[in-house]
Amino acid sequence: MNKLRIGLVGVGGMGGCHFDNYMDVDGAELVAVCDVRKEVAEKKVGNRKINIYTDLGKMLKKEELDMVDICTPSYMHMDMVIKLLKKGYHVLCEKPMTLNNGDCKKIIKTLKNTDKNFMVAHVVRFMAPYKYLKSVIDSNELGSLIRLDMKRISSIPTWSWEDWMRKEKLSGGVVTDLSIHDLDFVQSIFGMPKKVQAVHYKMKNNNDCIVSNLIYDNLSVSCEGTWYNTDIPFQAKFLAVFQNGYVQFDNGKLVKNGKEITLGSYKRDGEDIGINVGNDNGYFNEIQYFIDCANEGRKPDFITPESSAKSVELADLIKKKAVVVNK
Ligand SMILES: NC(=O)c1ccc[n+]([C@@H]2O[C@H](COP(=O)([O-])OP(=O)(O)OC[C@H]3O[C@@H](n4cnc5c(N)ncnc54)[C@H](O)[C@@H]3O)[C@@H](O)[C@H]2O)c1
Repeated sequence: MNKLRIGLVGVGGMGGCHFDNYMDVDGAELVAVCDVRKEVAEKKVGNRKINIYTDLGKMLKKEELDMVDICTPSYMHMDMVIKLLKKGYHVLCEKPMTLNNGDCKKIIKTLKNTDKNFMVAHVVRFMAPYKYLKSVIDSNELGSLIRLDMKRISSIPTWSWEDWMRKEKLSGGVVTDLSIHDLDFVQSIFGMPKKVQAVHYKMKNNNDCIVSNLIYDNLSVSCEGTWYNTDIPFQAKFLAVFQNGYVQFDNGKLVKNGKEITLGSYKRDGEDIGINVGNDNGYFNEIQYFIDCANEGRKPDFITPESSAKSVELADLIKKKAVVVNK
């Protein structure tokens, strides 16, 4: 079978991570990368046989690609996705799908006229501790979930090209850029909440925190997403309390009712090489999944475009409802 030929656009922080994972995938080959910063692309490519471009149009003209992976700043997603789908490529795109729900709808409209695959890379859905939590929810083994508390805390992103990530107009801010990881996870399982409440603390020195409460019939969920203007280590954690117990993920440790859970690697389905959750490779899993779907002629229904659009809609709603506290 011929390998899927892939072009990667944007080789910054996240594009670099995708790039590394393409070195390990099956059934596909990264043949070209494109970044407006040639030196960044050159550094990443090194002496590999991967062609480098600084212009997406030129890359598409020169290369015979089957799939394009978009890792450019979020405000560029919509135009790039639509252009690439219209030209007949499978498109994988980093989160968020776009900066607002209206723009997501434009992509969904475009999808009606193509049989190519499109998926937003919501990596959390592919991460082992979160997959484990979903399996406990789905199996009902601890009864129903009554409370879920999720946190995602990071120092202010300072690495981005032209500092786009810190500009709310370009990234959607702490809700659409950061908290969306957890909002998407919750929304993908429980759908849209009955009610949303939120407080957005816009603090001095650019400390920025959103705490949202998602209220469902018999479940309450809180999601905190914070950028602190201090050198704090990145943290993603949750506490899920069920009728008959709890599941907690904190500091890389997954615990169910007091007992640490060790999961096999998710790197290859069915092949357990006994690696703890700390070695979870959600990025590899999402990319390999998307490639497998394209090679096998099936739709990537683990993450549908409609579901990704709902997550952006939820982020929009939280921003609209949030009580803003300037401190
Ligand atoms: N899934 C995750 O965990 C995660 C984490 C971080 C970022 N992201 C997402 O990944 C995307 C990229 O974020 P990042 O942190 O890599 O940002 P970044 O600024 O580090 O990288 C963006 C890259 O795009 C390049 N670029 C800009 N305009 C371009 C153009 N027109 N054509 C080609 N290249 C262009 C820049 O030179 C830069 O190298 C964003 O959508 C962000 O939300 C996802």
